[in-house]
Amino acid sequence: MLLTIVRHTFLLCVLSLLTFHTVSASDLASPAMLSDTCLGCHGPAGISEGPATPTISGMSEIYIIGAMLAYKYDNDEDKVEEVIESDPDFEDVEFFARTSTVMDRIAKGYSEAEIKAIAKYFAALPFKASVQEVNPELAKAGADIHEHHCEKCHEDGGRSADDDAGVLAGQWIPYLEYTMADFQSGDRAMPKKMRKQMEEAHDVHGEESIAKLIQFYADQQ
Ligand code: HEC
Ligand code: HEC
Repeated sequence: MLLTIVRHTFLLCVLSLLTFHTVSASDLASPAMLSDTCLGCHGPAGISEGPATPTISGMSEIYIIGAMLAYKYDNDEDKVEEVIESDPDFEDVEFFARTSTVMDRIAKGYSEAEIKAIAKYFAALPFKASVQEVNPELAKAGADIHEHHCEKCHEDGGRSADDDAGVLAGQWIPYLEYTMADFQSGDRAMPKKMRKQMEEAHDVHGEESIAKLIQFYADQQ
């Protein structure tokens, strides 16, 4: 509860410091200009300086677009599916409901055309893993759990963006903790097969399975 309050308060302060662009869709600003607002939170070049904000550079276009549409339309599945079907560029985008502290408000400021341009811009920038202290024993145990339950969709130890499932390796520990808690509570949606693997990992490796996985991802450079 306290963590949630701290998380909200901090982000809303940052949000209030930012200026929002006011270009219309017919007057498409350059991708770099459009993306400028994002850097205040997601860090210079989209590499987050932590702790509750993910690094977005180097993720796939499809993943970024999926996230932005879910935020923009407040997880209205019918609306997002309609948008996906209306544009061949969105063919591979999948809808998953998401939790949001600030992104719902931010995403509403952008048209679909702008979201496409922004996604392309960040996908072309390199991902850089955050450097953070990890517990080597937990990370080692996490590697094994990842290999059996997660590697299939989060390839290369969670480093690959090609699965359109985000980039897990090198994200900040607090972001990963919030995210895993949101998945576990059901507030954030995930593919059925991912839920199954999360449950199996929990059954086999117990309560600490999540902490071990998080330490493993945080340890990847
Ligand atoms: C006020 C801070 C803030 C700003 C500005 C901001 N973001 Fe975010 N972003 C966040 C936070 C925090 C999250 C985690 C979800 C949440 O709590 O809303 C996030 C999540 C995301 C995600 C999901 C990443 C993942 O790993 O699933 C994407 C994609 C994203 N933001 C893109 C953008 C883009 C593009 C912009 C600029 C148009 C932007 N963000 C501006 C704070 C911000
Ligand atoms: C069947 C494929 C599949 C499996 C198996 C799977 N995932 Fe995922 N995972 C996904 C997809 C797809 C997403 C993106 C969902 C979205 O767009 O919101 C995702 C998203 C995530 C995210 C959020 C990333 C972000 O940047 O916010 C985390 C964390 C995660 N998975 C952890 C795991 C862990 C840990 C396991 C193993 C226990 C696992 N996943 C197994 C497909 C899978």
